[in-house]
Amino acid sequence: MSNLTLQDVTPEQLLCMGDGLLRGGQSGLAKSVYEVALKRTNKLDMRQRLRVRHGLAAAANHRTMTCLDLLETMESRGWKNAFVGDGLATWLKTLPFELDDRFQEISARHASLLPLANWQWNLTTMLWAVQTTRNIPGDFVELGVFKGHTTLFCADYVEFGGWPKTWWLYDTFEGIPEDQQNPGWKKMNDALYVNSFSYEEVAERFSGFPNIKVIKGRVPEVLQTGAPEQVALMHVDMNNAPAEIGALEFFFERLAPGGIIVFDDFCWATARTQYNAEVEWFAARGLHVLPMPTGQGVFVKS
Ligand SMILES: C[S@@+](CC[C@H](N)C(=O)[O-])C[C@H]1O[C@@H](n2cnc3c(N)ncnc32)[C@H](O)[C@@H]1O
Repeated sequence: MSNLTLQDVTPEQLLCMGDGLLRGGQSGLAKSVYEVALKRTNKLDMRQRLRVRHGLAAAANHRTMTCLDLLETMESRGWKNAFVGDGLATWLKTLPFELDDRFQEISARHASLLPLANWQWNLTTMLWAVQTTRNIPGDFVELGVFKGHTTLFCADYVEFGGWPKTWWLYDTFEGIPEDQQNPGWKKMNDALYVNSFSYEEVAERFSGFPNIKVIKGRVPEVLQTGAPEQVALMHVDMNNAPAEIGALEFFFERLAPGGIIVFDDFCWATARTQYNAEVEWFAARGLHVLPMPTGQGVFVKS
């Protein structure tokens, strides 16, 4: 496909070809056609349309056709800035990541590390949290790393290697422990996390950052073996309530004023057990988490 020339075919025609291929189940080929089209246009509107599709093709799954239908419906009505990803559609909104080539380049480079399409709004939240806590005293922690997608994006974007902070990344590297799984999660857990990634692979991925530590173990117990004394940012993403509440119990006192917690799963309907447990945990302290349409929850300590 790198030799594909398709002389005289316009970006609009290539977009249609890509859509046809995507609908026909040829996501790899569709992705390549969108890439050819992207090289041929500087028009912001067309680049946006192509990049959303490229993101769908890059992480094709059983929701891809529905996402493409949604996108085409929004575009056919003339709704500007139509965007669709797994679990989120927006239109008539400024897409900040579309105005940022560096964001686009780095997020596209790491997209294959997550089995979800078009994660740009979620990455925008995390990048905001990272940039906002840069001068808050304390280190960063991520509870639930998987292949390292979100942290790698943020670390690359801000060139975290030069920051006087350490980022502590915790994971079992074996999925959610059986006794922590929500009812009905075993199948999902096994499909996503069992034998699909490893400590060695993730440690290697972060080896270019001397100040990022990858730690294997079960939260909250592993925290007793090593954790920062003061924390500026927590990314909590373990798809289960007992581990996340355990992490909160351990770290909350260590979170500096101005520190931020981003819960990745908070508002996903599939994570209702976490939502209930976390709302209750904060309410007991007279505090509130901001629910986000991305599915995230955001808390800023005063
Ligand atoms: C949704 S993934 C994390 C995705 C990652 N934060 C990202 O943005 O790319 C959830 C991860 O939590 C890990 N996990 C679940 N329960 C855990 C526990 N009790 N201790 C440590 N890791 C856990 C799983 O192994 C899995 O890799």
